[in-house]
Amino acid sequence: MDFAQSYGPWALVTGASSGLGERYARALAARGLNLIVIARRKERLRTLAEELHTEHGVQVDVVATDLLKARSMRAIEEAVEGRELGLVVCNAGFGASGRFHELDRNRQIDMVRLNCEAPVRLLHALSPYLIQRGHGGVIMLASTASFQCTPWMAVYGATKAFDLHFAEALTVELGLHGIDVLSVCPGHTATEFHEVAGVDRSATGGAPADPTEVVEQSLRKLGHKMTWTHGARNRWMSFATRLAPRSISAWIAGKILHKRLN
Ligand SMILES: NC(=O)c1ccc[n+]([C@@H]2O[C@H](COP(=O)([O-])OP(=O)(O)OC[C@H]3O[C@@H](n4cnc5c(N)ncnc54)[C@H](OP(=O)(O)O)[C@@H]3O)[C@@H](O)[C@H]2O)c1
Repeated sequence: MDFAQSYGPWALVTGASSGLGERYARALAARGLNLIVIARRKERLRTLAEELHTEHGVQVDVVATDLLKARSMRAIEEAVEGRELGLVVCNAGFGASGRFHELDRNRQIDMVRLNCEAPVRLLHALSPYLIQRGHGGVIMLASTASFQCTPWMAVYGATKAFDLHFAEALTVELGLHGIDVLSVCPGHTATEFHEVAGVDRSATGGAPADPTEVVEQSLRKLGHKMTWTHGARNRWMSFATRLAPRSISAWIAGKILHKRLN
């Protein structure tokens, strides 16, 4: 089966209004998949939908919704109803950089809800569609922050560790039903993420990865790997983290991330 047969005819992408989500929408449309694109910024989604329809002749349905609101799940389920869904990309997420006790409490709780609770709700609602078909895929946006704690981004790293463990477990569970689940772990990538998180980009060290490249490479790993980390340096770091005592990994991560405080 080619990509569209395996993971089409419909794919759903959360956080498609910018960054990696937008690149997933573009890459999947180029592979002939119809799309349900989700984020809060409606105009951006509409412009993207029109562009992808014109360029690739695919149907793109816009669901402009806030995934932190309970009603968003209803809107998503209505959009999926009657569509043969083959791929779910759990991408929407954000981070916050700073001293844990000084960061806004509600924003950190929202981060847990968007990065962790929303994928749980989404996949609990949508997995039955995939299971019914007997084939399909899930892509979970984890991070290199999933592999060790992240001082000065304490909550963010914890949410990404959750995403990684959750998706890896589903690789096994949903794999029994013919569904491929891939956890994608990018490092520093050129999106709106750092601006939203308040990370000082000048201190991130090295050029950020191109989001299109991250997305294209990850799509080639779907169905072949459980977890994929972008970039040889990031792969080496995540491997070394596993070998080192956790206290050393925490200390090194703290040294690196402290420099990025605004
Ligand atoms: N960029 C990196 O360096 C990097 C590295 C590792 C992992 N990641 C992960 O990659 C994923 C995508 O991030 P990105 O880098 O592409 O950042 P981004 O450009 O800021 O995109 C985040 C997306 O999430 C959506 N979003 C945020 N809050 C939402 C809400 N309440 N409801 C619905 N949608 C919401 C945003 O759309 P609206 O604002 O329109 O709602 C946007 O489309 C995240 O899970 C992030 O943790 C990023």
